[in-house]
Order: sequence, then structure tokens, then C-alpha cells
Amino acid sequence: MTHQPRPLTDYEKYIRTEELLALQKPPEALVCHDELQFQTVHQVAELWMKLCEHELLAVAVALRDGECARAVRLLARVRQIEGLLGDQLSLLDTMAPRDYMIIRGVLGRGSGQESPGFKRMLQLPSEIWPSFEALLARRGVTLRTIYEAPDAQAELFNVAEGLVDYDQWLQAWRARHLLLVYRIIGTGTPSLKGKPSDLLAEGAKHRFFPPLWEVRDELFAEWTRAHPHGADHGYHG
Ligand code: HEM
Repeated sequence: MTHQPRPLTDYEKYIRTEELLALQKPPEALVCHDELQFQTVHQVAELWMKLCEHELLAVAVALRDGECARAVRLLARVRQIEGLLGDQLSLLDTMAPRDYMIIRGVLGRGSGQESPGFKRMLQLPSEIWPSFEALLARRGVTLRTIYEAPDAQAELFNVAEGLVDYDQWLQAWRARHLLLVYRIIGTGTPSLKGKPSDLLAEGAKHRFFPPLWEVRDELFAEWTRAHPHGADHGYHG
């Protein structure tokens, strides 16, 4: 008698659990116990980054159409995703360096730098910024005017702060990832691409929307000069 497979439930059909759960190595193929965790965390990260791209493309469209409230809502979602991406790295803190070394043996020359999702997250800010700049021009305001009087331009201020969040949370991800790298392979070990992990620290300093940071410097310099003690000491003096 042939064994009939049970029909898939609607949940399984919609979520496509069969295909999804076939994307990880089966237990007998794992090179060590921790490989399933390693593969799962990376696969989940790719899914979150795919969703990030989807949302960020919609942010660019919303800004082009002048729909600030929608852009703000989508940017809030993106910030949540960036948080999840960072939080889930802590799972890999539970992996011993020895286990990573075993996994490295089957990684080939693979590196997170080749992540398609992360590459898009690095590119997308340059696709969003022109839409935001064009919107500011259409409304006849500058970053200075927005930051000088945030309540007078609340919509645009909220969009600008959503973009600052993107920058801040990507930096936070990079810093968190760096801590994981130090913990697993040390601070000086050459990566699979032949660079010391310390070089990642350089990337962690990168900001995607420089004008949004410069306007803070600019305004604080002025406000500090105008402050009764500003001329003597500088803001932190
Ligand atoms: C055991 C855990 C991990 C170790 C030891 C590790 C190690 C490294 C190293 C050494 C680099 C430098 C580039 C290179 O490979 O040459 C790197 C880059 C990268 N890794 Fe990881 N990684 C780990 C987990 C993860 C996870 C879970 C993700 C999730 C997406 C990830 C994503 C990335 C990305 C996107 C880069 C490029 C970073 C940048 O340009 O700032 N890594 N990783």
C-alpha cells in the first residue's frame, strides 16, 4: 500500500513552510551542532533586509508624492526592522569560536559583505535622498529652517528624523556586529577577504545622510556662540 502524503493546510500553503523549512541543511548534513543556528540567523536576516528594501522603495515614492505621513510611518517600520536585525545577532554570542571555525570550513570565501540585502541597504539612502531634497525645494524650505523651528515644519521634521533613525540604527547594527566579530574571531584575525576585523570599525562610522548631521553641527555652533557662556567654552566646555 502506497503512503499518501497528507494534504497541506492552508497555513502551510500560504506561508510556504515546506519550501522555507527545506532551505536549511538537514541534521545529518550539519558540520556541527551550531551550524543550523548560523544558517537560520543569516537567512532570517536576509528576509528582514528584503522587507527593508521593500519599505525603503515605498518611502522614496511617498516622498516623491509629497506624502510625508506615509513616509514617516514606513520609516518607523524600517527602524523596527533594523532593531530586530541587531537584536538577533545576540543569538550568535552563544556560539563557541571553535564551532565558527568548523563552519568557516564550509563557508568557502563567503562573507557578509556579499549579502544582497545589506548591499541594498547601503545603496537605498542614495535613492531616497534626492526625493527628500526635491520635496524641500518644492516646499521652499531648507534643513536649517526645519531644524530651527521643528514645530513649524512638523511633517518635514518628522521625515528628516526618520532618516536620521535609519542612519543611527544602521550604525548601531554595525557596532553590534563588530562586537560579535570581536567575540568570535578576536580583534586582529584576518577575515575571509583578508582584512582584519578591526577595519569593520571604519564602516561603523559611515553616515548615509551627511546633511542631516551637518545641520546639527551648524546650528549648535551658532546657538553656542549666542549662548551667554558659549563664546568662552564651546558647548561641552
Ligand atoms: C559568527 C558570527 C559572525 C562573524 C564571525 C562575522 C564576521 C564578519 C567579518 C570578519 C566581516 C568582515 C568582512 C569580511 O568577511 O571580509 C563581516 C562582515 C559582514 N557581516 Fe558578518 N559575521 C558574523 C555574523 C553575521 C550575521 C548574522 C550577519 C547578518 C546579516 C552578518 C552580516 C555581515 C555584513 C552585512 C557584513 C558587511 C558589514 C559592513 O560592511 O559593515 N554577519 N562579518
